[in-house]
Amino acid sequence: MSVENLIFKAKEELRALLGKSIQPEDITVSIAPGRANLIGEHTDYNNGYVMPLAIDKHTVIVGTKLNERKIFVKSLHFNEKKIFSLNDIKFKKEDKWVNYLKGVLFFLTQEDYKFDHGAAIVITNDLPVNAGVSSSASLEVSFANFISKLYNFNLDKKMIAEISFKAEREFMNISCGIMDQYIITFAKTSTLLFLDTLEKKFEYISFPTNKAKIVLVDSRVKHEAKQVLNERRQECQNAVNILRKFDNTIKSLRDVTPEIFEKYKNKLPEKLRKRVEHVVFENQRVIQTVDVLKKGKLEDLGKILREGHESCKRLYEVSCYELDLLVDLAYDIEGTIGARLTGAGFGGNTINVVYSDSVNDFAKVISEKYKEKVGFTPGIIITDPVSGVV
Ligand code: GLA
Repeated sequence: MSVENLIFKAKEELRALLGKSIQPEDITVSIAPGRANLIGEHTDYNNGYVMPLAIDKHTVIVGTKLNERKIFVKSLHFNEKKIFSLNDIKFKKEDKWVNYLKGVLFFLTQEDYKFDHGAAIVITNDLPVNAGVSSSASLEVSFANFISKLYNFNLDKKMIAEISFKAEREFMNISCGIMDQYIITFAKTSTLLFLDTLEKKFEYISFPTNKAKIVLVDSRVKHEAKQVLNERRQECQNAVNILRKFDNTIKSLRDVTPEIFEKYKNKLPEKLRKRVEHVVFENQRVIQTVDVLKKGKLEDLGKILREGHESCKRLYEVSCYELDLLVDLAYDIEGTIGARLTGAGFGGNTINVVYSDSVNDFAKVISEKYKEKVGFTPGIIITDPVSGVV
């Protein structure tokens, strides 16, 4: 569905919710994309490099002021209405998705922003939910931007990204890094974001949209991973604690260069050695990708993405049968430049870079072949990198 249609539907629903017509100038609209990550997986919470892009699927929020200090919110995706008071912004398990909104409001309150009135809000999206394309970060960023506009806070982009990140990390208590909220906030059309998650600095890297497309293939499986991901984070920390005994300049895995890794790898137990090896060389792959794209050597991406996938599979151990299958199938299709899993792993999507003139065939063939093996068709999103929240 186009963004215009999403906005139209949400506005109609808002009128229905309020039981009256609203002047167009009294409606605030916020639109945030989803994200995919080209390379740099599980590096962001290790202070490393990532290279995500925003995808052409969105979370749209429309709303209007209410005098009461309450938020009335309807999600079309969940087909649920909720009401909560701005005097009592607390995490409540039974509030499920509403907690993402509360998290944003909570951290704005901590920054001394005041809400002198409430709002009626409708949320809708064509961004798949719970499929590894950051629907939660898209919701947080869209909402932070919506609140900024509605209350005339004029939050700058950095604040929007940081508040949204805190909502996810500290309010929802999810072990993520800053990648998702930063790309959804800062994305620019036809570029990837080369983001240094330690310095929080970034550079836009052009993607040749005249030659190639990004294709996300959704395995439509979601293996339970929350605990494993928390374990990975802890393992990385444990490795840092060991390495620091030998080199006290190491504060995070970001500080471990390939040379340092070679020097001390035998000091690490096997499992931790594998985790560190992934992070160290995944950071290198991000830097190589920047170089390849700057030189316009698109075909060199294939090897880098393949290595990235293998490393997630064998060293970081966050892949699964369906993702491995999709990556193997992709490399056998004419016109594929590169493919790997994207996001946390254990299901969700693969990211594929495919020559534009092969993209429709690619989508058809991978869908058929995947179905032959697993019994159901994958989801397909064909996209160029799009711009961030507005
Ligand atoms: C999830 C997190 C991100 C990042 C990826 C793995 O998507 O939200 O911050 O850690 O996993 O690269």
